[in-house]
Amino acid sequence: MNDQAGKLREMISNNDEFDKSVAHQIKIYSIISGKGGVGKTNLTVNLAIKLQEKGKKVLIMDADVGMSNAHLVMGIDTKKTLLDLIENDLNLEDIIAKGPYGVDLISGGEDLFLLEKLDKEKQKEIIQNLANLGEYDVLLIDNGAGINKQSLTFTILADDIILISTPEPTSITDAYRILKAISMYELKNKVKVVINQVPDLDTGDEALNKLLKTSELFLNVELENIGYIFSDIRVNKAVMEQIPIVIRYPDALASSNINQISAAILGDKNYTNNISNLKQFKNRLIRLFG
Ligand SMILES: Nc1ncnc2c1ncn2[C@@H]1O[C@H](COP(=O)(O)OP(=O)(O)OP(=O)(O)O)[C@@H](O)[C@H]1O
Ligand SMILES: [Mg+2]
Repeated sequence: MNDQAGKLREMISNNDEFDKSVAHQIKIYSIISGKGGVGKTNLTVNLAIKLQEKGKKVLIMDADVGMSNAHLVMGIDTKKTLLDLIENDLNLEDIIAKGPYGVDLISGGEDLFLLEKLDKEKQKEIIQNLANLGEYDVLLIDNGAGINKQSLTFTILADDIILISTPEPTSITDAYRILKAISMYELKNKVKVVINQVPDLDTGDEALNKLLKTSELFLNVELENIGYIFSDIRVNKAVMEQIPIVIRYPDALASSNINQISAAILGDKNYTNNISNLKQFKNRLIRLFG
C-alpha cells in the first residue's frame, strides 16, 4: 500500500496537464467486492443496460485486467483491449467496443502481465482520457475481487463505490475488510451496498445488518443499501447463453431487482450534483496521500 501511495503521489506531483483538463459530466461508479465470484460483472453489465434504458449513455470499463470477462457476459467480441492502449499507443476511443445493447465496453484483456506494463505515465494517460470522454453520462468500472493496484486507483477516481457481497459469512467478512481499507485510507465516507444471491429477504437483512452494525461501530464509512438481488438460476442460464439476464429473462426476479437498483442510483439526489472531473480526482489523491 505504501508503494502504491508513493506511486500515486508521484503521479499527481507537479503536473499541469491535470489542472488544464476540462471537466466532463460523467458519473463514475466503481464496482468492487472483497471475495471473488459474488456477482460484480453480472451486476455491472445488467445495471449498465438498465441505466441505458433509462436514458443514460453508459460505458463499462472492465478493469479486471488480465481476467476480463464482461464481454463474455455481454456476448460481444472485443477486438481491442487495454493492452492495445498500453502497447500500441491507441486512444481510449479506439479501444471502445460498441455493445449490442447501446452500452459500450472497454475490455481489460487477457494479458495477466498487463499490470506490469501499466507504468505511471500510462496510468496517468488512461485517467486523463477517461475524464475527457465527453459522450458518456455514466462509467461503470468492473473490478477484480479485493483491492489491488487498479481497483485502488479506480476507487479513488470514482464518485461512488458499489460494494457487492453475498450473504455468506466469508463474503461478508471480506466485504468488511474492504470497508475497513476504505475507511482507514479515507477513500470515501459513503459506500453503496448490494447483497447478491439472496435466498430470501430475512437472509438479505441479516447479512446487511451485520455489515451495517460492524461498520457503524468501527468504521468511518456510511453504508447505503441500494438493493438485494435474489438468487436466481436464470443468472447462470443467461451467462451460459451469453445474453445479459435483463435482456434474456426480463421477467426474472433478479432482472427486476437490478432494475430497482438502477432506479435507486438514478434517484440518488446527488446524481446530478456530483460531477467528476480531474480536479476533484486530484484533490482526492491529495487528501489521501498528500
Ligand atoms: N443473483 C444470482 N443468482 C444466481 N447466481 C448468480 C447470481 N449472481 C451471480 N451468480 C453466479 O455467480 C457467477 C459469478 O458472477 P460474476 O462473474 O458476476 O461475479 P464476479 O464478482 O464478477 O466474479 P470475479 O470476482 O471472478 O470477477 C455467475 O456466473 C453466476 O453463475
Ligand atoms: Mg467479474
